[in-house]
Amino acid sequence: MLKIDAARLYRAIEALGRIGAYVDEPTGLTGVNRLALTDADGEGRRQVLAWMRELGLDVTVDRIGNVYARRAGREDTLPPVVIGSHIDSVPTAGRFDGCLGVLGGLEIVRTLHESNIRTRRPIVVAFFTDEEGSRFGTDMLGSAVATGRLPLESAYALRDRQGLAVRDELERIGFLGPAPVETIQRMPPHAYLECHIEQGPILRARERDIGVVTGVQAISWQALTITGKSAHAGTTPMHLRADAGVAAAKVNLRLREMIASGRYGEPMRATMGAIVPHPGMVNIVPGRALATVDLRNPSEEDMRRAEADLISYYTQVEREEKVRIEWRRTARTEPVPFDPKIQDRIAAAADALGLGHERIISGAGHDAQELARLCPTAMVFVPGEHDGISHNPREYSTPEQCASGVNVMLQIALDLAEE
Ligand code: GLV
Ligand code: MN
Ligand code: MN
Repeated sequence: MLKIDAARLYRAIEALGRIGAYVDEPTGLTGVNRLALTDADGEGRRQVLAWMRELGLDVTVDRIGNVYARRAGREDTLPPVVIGSHIDSVPTAGRFDGCLGVLGGLEIVRTLHESNIRTRRPIVVAFFTDEEGSRFGTDMLGSAVATGRLPLESAYALRDRQGLAVRDELERIGFLGPAPVETIQRMPPHAYLECHIEQGPILRARERDIGVVTGVQAISWQALTITGKSAHAGTTPMHLRADAGVAAAKVNLRLREMIASGRYGEPMRATMGAIVPHPGMVNIVPGRALATVDLRNPSEEDMRRAEADLISYYTQVEREEKVRIEWRRTARTEPVPFDPKIQDRIAAAADALGLGHERIISGAGHDAQELARLCPTAMVFVPGEHDGISHNPREYSTPEQCASGVNVMLQIALDLAEE
């Protein structure tokens, strides 16, 4: 059975991980910060493009900065098999999230080159802009635009906390490409494949090498602006306060109560990841607070109920705390099931390679959920050490774990590219 070079794949992961590397202050660990469309992301992109060109691939950059690198097929006009993911990161990342899928795709191409295999269909290795959504507030940005869920103009207009816009930042780092974003819709891929770290504890705890991903759960993000009245902390009687910080805290605790109630199903997750009080001084009652809400649920029905209940709780907090709560939806995706036939093939390929596997739903969002709109789509997960921690410098999968996932992908990609 054809196999990739595990050490070579790992060297590429390490090399890309050096771009945007930083030392995490509290732990002393080295992490990665390649937020979308920053200088570090630009440098990471240029490195991956250089590797794509070294492999002789035909590279296209589209108007939202998505990059497609194409290896010709024997019947080159057929729809390609696309292998992809992202190389942008959260500000406190490890080296694997997204990068495994992209560099795994390039390692598959290298392996095919070395073995002189020319597949019937072309194979495209892609990376999509701003999968993380950390900087501009909307996740899967590039793949959502490419597949028609988000209009290009609304993506361009998104701004980061400094007020910098997506379009300007794309241009600044040299990735406002010439290709129309809907190129991939005009000739939908034959299939889309993505290998990713699990980012959770399940596979490692059950000693499985491979997760056959059944789909991605629903994701709902909000940005809250809570407006109260800033006032002197020492002199303002408690009953005269309109404390935006307390209101944010109440909403945050409500998320915990909602989970504990069990009303929205056991797999429901809820997080207030940002709470920013203004002016943020020890002796001033916060007059304003910005906060975010992240809800996840594999059931669309439970998700809708959770959203409605949370929004009606805002009205209660407004009354109790004498504040105004404005909320804005910054991202919303429904649950996305993956192609059952490719799932079966992944399981069979894992068996053939002697790898233990099980079906698993993805807790995290992925570009694959957007591509699933266009073509049969599937994902392969590999386990992570340290309880599968991710979005954290401790994120770690071994060279063997990474290689197992990419070897499964190689078999599936070869099969699909011969169809
Ligand atoms: C992407 O990493 C997400 O699930 O937030
Ligand atoms: Mn990812
Ligand atoms: Mn991520």
